[in-house]
Amino acid sequence: MTSIDQNPTAPRPASASSTQGDPAVVPQFAPVPSARPRKRYAVVGTGHRAGMYVDAITGDHADVAELVALCDTNPTRMAYYDQQVGEALGLGGPANLPQYGPEQLETMILSQQVDVVIVTSPDYTHADLVARAQAAGADVVVEKPLTTDAAGVRTITDSVRATGRDVVMTFNYRYGPRNSTLREVIASGEIGEVTSVHFEWVLDTVHGADYFRRWHRERHHSGSLLIHKSSHHFDLVNWWLGDTPARVYASAGLKFYGAENAARRGLTDRPARGTGTQGDPWAFDLTADPRLKALYLDAEHHDGYLRDRDVFTDGITIDDNMALIVDYTRGATLTYSLNAHSPWEGYTVTVNGTKGRAELTVVERGAVLLGEDGQAILDPSATPEEVAAAAQRAVLSGVSTNTAGGERPDGDLLLVQKHWEAARRVPIPAGIGGHGGGDAILLMEVFRRDLRIGDDPLGRAAGYLDGLNAVAVGIAANVSLRTGQAVAIADLDL
Ligand SMILES: NC(=O)c1ccc[n+]([C@@H]2O[C@H](COP(=O)([O-])OP(=O)(O)OC[C@H]3O[C@@H](n4cnc5c(N)ncnc54)[C@H](O)[C@@H]3O)[C@@H](O)[C@H]2O)c1
Repeated sequence: MTSIDQNPTAPRPASASSTQGDPAVVPQFAPVPSARPRKRYAVVGTGHRAGMYVDAITGDHADVAELVALCDTNPTRMAYYDQQVGEALGLGGPANLPQYGPEQLETMILSQQVDVVIVTSPDYTHADLVARAQAAGADVVVEKPLTTDAAGVRTITDSVRATGRDVVMTFNYRYGPRNSTLREVIASGEIGEVTSVHFEWVLDTVHGADYFRRWHRERHHSGSLLIHKSSHHFDLVNWWLGDTPARVYASAGLKFYGAENAARRGLTDRPARGTGTQGDPWAFDLTADPRLKALYLDAEHHDGYLRDRDVFTDGITIDDNMALIVDYTRGATLTYSLNAHSPWEGYTVTVNGTKGRAELTVVERGAVLLGEDGQAILDPSATPEEVAAAAQRAVLSGVSTNTAGGERPDGDLLLVQKHWEAARRVPIPAGIGGHGGGDAILLMEVFRRDLRIGDDPLGRAAGYLDGLNAVAVGIAANVSLRTGQAVAIADLDL
């Protein structure tokens, strides 16, 4: 089983090594027909997220997929993956894959006969790369978000119309069994017609802070967290309800990170970057992880891309507290909030219907702890032993601000309560890589879609229209933040 490669700072699913899943959530695939040629893939954007696809192509899905080229602006990051592919293929050295800059995308597709381009570059580059790849004759798999603004949406819709080429959106959260189970509950009609949804997502001081260190912190690069991060969440609501968003009102602000907020709280003389900073829970030290060092620190001399900027420096143009009201086409209302500096990480969704109510509570990481050295521990929830050891270290060093596990153990709880009845707990089936781990199942769908046995009753596979409906909420929210008015999505001419 391919290792699940999430954001390095994101909470890891509790049972990431589990390989047996419930057939209701883990699809079955037919064997590969003999002598069928493998599809030829190129990865565009060889940063962190590319690792999941490179692992999949050289590992679990090597019988159906072949990596034939890499494309990035940074030669060191391409060389890193070239070496990794060589090792995975047992070559004892680099694979010597052809490497291209983004301006050579068309040349790459033609000369390497690329069937599918996987786009894992920063969000603001997606639309251009998707359209150009399609025009050059390739299908596309694109990471979320589809794009960051209305112009990007139009570029992609025009391109799909003109070329008829495929766009697969990789909405991995749909594949998390707890999210799939909530969809089943709503679709079953048990809670009746949905009238409203309340959805609160909190990102903790490790994972949430990470969006304020690099390109995500600039609105023109990520579209803000309402596009970059919340497009996952809005896609979930669209898919849970089987509906499309119609009107959005937003209120948001940068209230915690950034130089001004820090100064107001007396946090002055901040370092420019985390690497080399001692005893600071906000510091992100790239030398602590060989992979991050190789991908970013050792690569920054090419392009000046700093992965570890201090979260309390100037130049942040995104918000860290966001609230939205979204009206849906069939009449449901969504109230949504995202906070990026919470002491724990997870989400709560409540769905009100005409016959009752469903409530999903998910704790992805119950606490962020500080180590003896005063640095935040990257992923204390990885194993119970690590949690216990981290808690012990923190207590011994007297710098603990949280008790690991404690009153907030990692896990999920789905309750359904119909009018005039007691609440019942809905069992959440096992997926692969723990309840939170949608990536492994998503990869099966991406690489073996044509071999799938039977249709997916959950309708989890997503295309560009799903990507469009997800970013539409964030795009409308960004307009609402500028104008102070509610925004009709139809008026955006997407
Ligand atoms: N679904 C998920 O859970 C998930 C998780 C992480 C990242 N992502 C998505 O994956 C994408 C990449 O994120 P990341 O964390 O790997 O970012 P990253 O910054 O680590 O990597 C991006 C790479 O793209 C390269 N690049 C920059 N401009 C380019 C261009 N014009 N053409 C080609 N390459 C270019 C950079 O040099 C870098 O190597 C983002 O869109 C992000 O939203 C999704």
